[in-house]
Amino acid sequence: MESPPAHVGEEWLRRVEAEYTSCAITASFVQWLVRLAAPPELIRDGLRVVDDELEHATLSHVVARDAGCDARPDLVQESLGLKRHDVPLWLDGLWTAVETFCLGETVAVPLFVAMRAACTVDSARIALDRIVRDEVRHRDFGWACLDWFTQTRPDEARLQVERALPDMMQRLRANYGQGADAPAAKTSETDARWGLLPIARYAEILERCVQRDFVPRFETLGIDPAGCHP
Ligand SMILES: [Fe+2]
Ligand SMILES: [Fe+2]
Repeated sequence: MESPPAHVGEEWLRRVEAEYTSCAITASFVQWLVRLAAPPELIRDGLRVVDDELEHATLSHVVARDAGCDARPDLVQESLGLKRHDVPLWLDGLWTAVETFCLGETVAVPLFVAMRAACTVDSARIALDRIVRDEVRHRDFGWACLDWFTQTRPDEARLQVERALPDMMQRLRANYGQGADAPAAKTSETDARWGLLPIARYAEILERCVQRDFVPRFETLGIDPAGCHP
């Protein structure tokens, strides 16, 4: 196998950390859903997401090693999983449903599709095929959770989402614009074969997703999407 530049393995190791972090967050979130007595199908869908994220981390680690990266993922016990705020549990649950799942998993779909487009290295392709397939379900899980919150607390939940959206969107945009000087900013053909994307594409994919997915989906649930715009 071709030996890619070191930043390829480093990027996949970063993805291992991100996938494992998603696993931990979802595990916390599902426990909250259990405590909130959410519908059983939502709890079961959430458990499946936990299992998927663990598999994404495992598959991504195979790619990192294939790319010659032997470093261990940097996972800090204390920062894995969700922390409670000094608010009722349903509100912490609602915020996580929106920020992590509705926003994060929805933009993950076109992002991973783009990463997969020119990816031809076997292990990377296997990982991205599985991730792309699962992210669609994770996105739907998020919107189903939000739907449940808005049904159980119609006015309060909508108001809280509208209030929280600007900050959530600001964090998301910051994440997608960051790292412009990272090596992955200049992706070569080799990078593309390993499933890396130029950093500029992240921001572009996010903005398209805001228009195409976030705005209409919030509107369908009776939530004013104004906070989606900068
Ligand atoms: Fe994932
Ligand atoms: Fe996911």
